[in-house]
Amino acid sequence: MAPTAFLPRVAFAQGVAERPPNLLNTWSPSRGVVQFNFTHRFDMSDAPLRKITNTPSFQVTTGVLGSLGVGFTYGSNSELVAAYPNEWEWFARWSPLSQGGGAPLDASLQGGWNLAAESFDAELSAARSMGRLRVVVAGRAFHHAFYQDTTRYAVAGGAVVRLSPWLSVAGDYATLVDRGDGERPVWGAGLQLTVPYTPHSMSIHASNVGTGSLEGISRGSHTRWGFEYTVPITLRRYAPRRAPQGGVVADARQAGAPAVMPQTNGPDPDTVVVTIRQFRYERDTIRVKVGDVVLWRNGDPIEHTVTADSGEFESPLIKTGQTWSHRFTVAGRFAYHCMPHPFMKAVVLVQEVKP
Ligand code: CU
Repeated sequence: MAPTAFLPRVAFAQGVAERPPNLLNTWSPSRGVVQFNFTHRFDMSDAPLRKITNTPSFQVTTGVLGSLGVGFTYGSNSELVAAYPNEWEWFARWSPLSQGGGAPLDASLQGGWNLAAESFDAELSAARSMGRLRVVVAGRAFHHAFYQDTTRYAVAGGAVVRLSPWLSVAGDYATLVDRGDGERPVWGAGLQLTVPYTPHSMSIHASNVGTGSLEGISRGSHTRWGFEYTVPITLRRYAPRRAPQGGVVADARQAGAPAVMPQTNGPDPDTVVVTIRQFRYERDTIRVKVGDVVLWRNGDPIEHTVTADSGEFESPLIKTGQTWSHRFTVAGRFAYHCMPHPFMKAVVLVQEVKP
């Protein structure tokens, strides 16, 4: 058994399936992916008018380098600063630690500028997945909070419990550290859905938050009902590249793949099989030695790819039941993902052969 076999998976982390409604989680998109999350939350005024008001919030993020992403949050009906309904927040987000990469937890640091508050805002967040449970915590600082000349702090926490590969329940809580009269803590509770056989996810929730900026998710107001939908857009899908190295074969037997996972201690090259099933690489970290072949078998009813984050290898779309293999000739750590579903991530660790 590989030492990392019990690591919880990090798939779906870019959507809402593994985070509560009002926490950003601890991810940054891969380079070449534009993540578009849109949230609409509604409330109704008192009788007799009963006017429905939408409080939309859009977040667009893209990966630029390694685990660094940049993006913005925009709310068109913001209550953050009086008479400033168009709230923009521009930020950079760095996610250096991930459980899928072998760390004990996921962690992100975000820093940005809120144009409505004219405030530098920052968040440090950490999360850990333990089986079906994922816990996310965050600490925040705002140097000119809510357009007032004071530095303020907030803390937040939440949890997600996965009920099935497609369905989770989630809740969160946040509060300003020095909450004043009339300032409410934030809460959110929702059903988090992965839309089957797509890279999209959806949250249906209730919360007392308006816009999704760091300041917006730190001070509560009244209850709203709404949803969030997340759309990762993989830019390279619109510009197909040259035929990649490696080969697709009709089925695993033709590739000479052993039925049982071999131990990779001996001197002879081995073939290590990774099955893709239910939108995940079933072993998210594998260790092989230089010269070994890794063979991916697609057990899903739709197509996936095996695409190195840094470009060392790239499969074409692997159809249902087909396989693709790659021989690793140099030692190193090779993180990879699926192009159509960038939340699918895993790692191959290639070690030198010891005589
Ligand atoms: Cu995929």
